Amino acid sequence: MKFFIDTADLSEIREANDMGVLDGVTTNPSLMKVASERAGRPLDFHEHIFKICELVEGDVSAEVTAVEFEGIMTQARALAQIHARVVVKVPLILDGIKAINALRKEDIRVNCTLCFSPTQALVAAKAGAVYISPFLGRVDDISSDGMRLLEEVVSIYSNYSYPTEVLAASIRHPMHVVEAAIMGVHVATMPLSVIKKLLRHPLTDIGLEKFLGDWEAFQQGLAS
Ligand code: E4P
Repeated sequence: MKFFIDTADLSEIREANDMGVLDGVTTNPSLMKVASERAGRPLDFHEHIFKICELVEGDVSAEVTAVEFEGIMTQARALAQIHARVVVKVPLILDGIKAINALRKEDIRVNCTLCFSPTQALVAAKAGAVYISPFLGRVDDISSDGMRLLEEVVSIYSNYSYPTEVLAASIRHPMHVVEAAIMGVHVATMPLSVIKKLLRHPLTDIGLEKFLGDWEAFQQGLAS
């Protein structure tokens, strides 16, 4: 399973990258806003995406904000020019689907975002998206079942051997990651806080404390 970090904050990306488990980055307009606020100044979008691409060895999703075909195409081409690692994020709307199909013919890779139903995922795969991003947490937020959505997408793609990779997005906690991994989902994108929680276990902390205490006692016994 590939781990992507869901942030545009350079220090968070560096921290996750230093763990040696990072395979890519996903950004979106809201995450750019947060990164700008944290930097205390408006960030240049293209320049910032270039910096992220230089930090990480993996795909970096950068999202278009146009919602009609020509605008999406213009923005997507410009984003793809920034760096070979850029994957253009396009929303799952009619003009987005048309653009995904046209961008495929120009060898521009697309992460199809804002997916909330299996039918949407099916259409995105047929259009040629490289990644589909079902938003688990946001589905759970409206008292529906994000994991059920993910299961349906994985099973439909497997039935027809679509090459589109399933990128579990809007991940809120480690169990989202566990269940996605059990399903064999290709990628999980998550905030730094969730990446850190993946390796925590209270029995590890208790066990380590006991080992270190016993080691100390053993050393004292040797010295006396
Ligand atoms: C995915 O690429 C999106 O950026 C992200 O996962 C959305 O997550 P949220 O619902 O926590 O905003």
